[in-house]
Amino acid sequence: MSRQNDLVILIIGGGGREHALAMALVASPIVSAVHVSPGNAGTAMIATNHPEIASDVESMTQLAVDLSASLVVVGPEGPLVEGLADLLRSKDIPCFGPDSKNAMLEGSKLVAKNVMKENGVPTADFRIISEKSQIDAALNDFSGNPWVVKRDVLAGGKGVVVTGDREQATNAILDAIEIDGKVLLEAFLPGEEASMLVLMDESGFVCLPASQDHKRLNEGDSGPNTGGMGAYAPAPVVDEEVKSKTIERIVKPMHNYLKSTKIPYRGVLYVGLMIDENNDPYVVEYNVRFGDPECQITLPLIDSDLASHLLAVAEGRLEDEQISFLDCHCLTVVLAAKGYPFSPEKGGFISLPSSREGKSQDELAAWVNHAGTSLQGGQLIATGGRVLSATGMGRNLKQAAQAAYRLMEGIKLAESQYRLDIGWRAL
Ligand code: AMP
Ligand code: GLY
Repeated sequence: MSRQNDLVILIIGGGGREHALAMALVASPIVSAVHVSPGNAGTAMIATNHPEIASDVESMTQLAVDLSASLVVVGPEGPLVEGLADLLRSKDIPCFGPDSKNAMLEGSKLVAKNVMKENGVPTADFRIISEKSQIDAALNDFSGNPWVVKRDVLAGGKGVVVTGDREQATNAILDAIEIDGKVLLEAFLPGEEASMLVLMDESGFVCLPASQDHKRLNEGDSGPNTGGMGAYAPAPVVDEEVKSKTIERIVKPMHNYLKSTKIPYRGVLYVGLMIDENNDPYVVEYNVRFGDPECQITLPLIDSDLASHLLAVAEGRLEDEQISFLDCHCLTVVLAAKGYPFSPEKGGFISLPSSREGKSQDELAAWVNHAGTSLQGGQLIATGGRVLSATGMGRNLKQAAQAAYRLMEGIKLAESQYRLDIGWRAL
């Protein structure tokens, strides 16, 4: 379907992921306006922010109605689990993001595990524990490796404890049973992690270039878990063999399942992979949204029109889209406030160098993805744990890393931190 430049798009969210979405969507020839709620200082520079809108799904839907939005793109998982896509579709507003039932693939680890089991998707064996008396036998079942304890709630990556210490594992299980009534104990999967973002609707699916993020705070992938301190794509660990195994064993069975649910899945399925020493992929987790910061380094690799693709998914006609990719590499380094991830210091002044935006194959390109930033009286202020990221693009990963770090060196924020080794596994 060819369109005029008349699309009005509303993006829900206010992090680095949503700034990356806004950057790609404002560049589309078929888009006339991009709105973001709540947005951040980066989205304010290129689109219209709506920070005044409450974060309940009714208020967001009303905003979409008021704006006569042609498409709503939902960044975070929370509103999807709460039924934003269902409400928008009841008003005939196309939504990129699945309905609340399918969003439970991320909302409940147990739902995700059961769907994998029913569809033969490779993942770690697991036990559900709801009684104190079951703990010892379950721990014995998975002894010899670290134990993986997972709360069955939306916990933003903070609901998982991986430990080789039996007492610590026991305490994590006891705590979770007390709060949630039950908990998952999973077999430990050895290997290397990667993320595969898959655009999906009932008509088809398209795998975007695989990426790898760095979830730990410190260099060498050590220290506490965070939302992600940097990422790069394509990730060489997902070579042609791993990619075709992932498609055959994971993506196709999931697509067959998700296209036949009562409301077919329309959005992006984030497949968190563990790849073992035999190059066999296993699912660690599903998310029902773009990863953050994976989104920031995946979207720039798409050469074709993102707005057209996301609208097609929201309308269930992805199979008609031609999606092409640049033969480039992209890497982003997150600048976090001091104290992140536990108690980030907010309110610091940020100064940015002039950055060049673009994705030429012949020159080093770098740009800033805003995350926790706001403009107050003309001054850029840090308002979140992950403040921004410096993203670089190049013909190879080394060039992309050089571009990102060169940009980062020019960014000033007192009391901040960033990792110097993003991409180390591939470099
Ligand atoms: P999740 O929220 O399920 O993605 O888990 C958070 C992190 O814990 C993952 O990114 C992995 O690093 C680690 N993890 C989760 N499950 C396993 C597992 N079964 N084996 C090894 N590591 C795991
Ligand atoms: N970067 C991991 C995530 O978005 O869940």
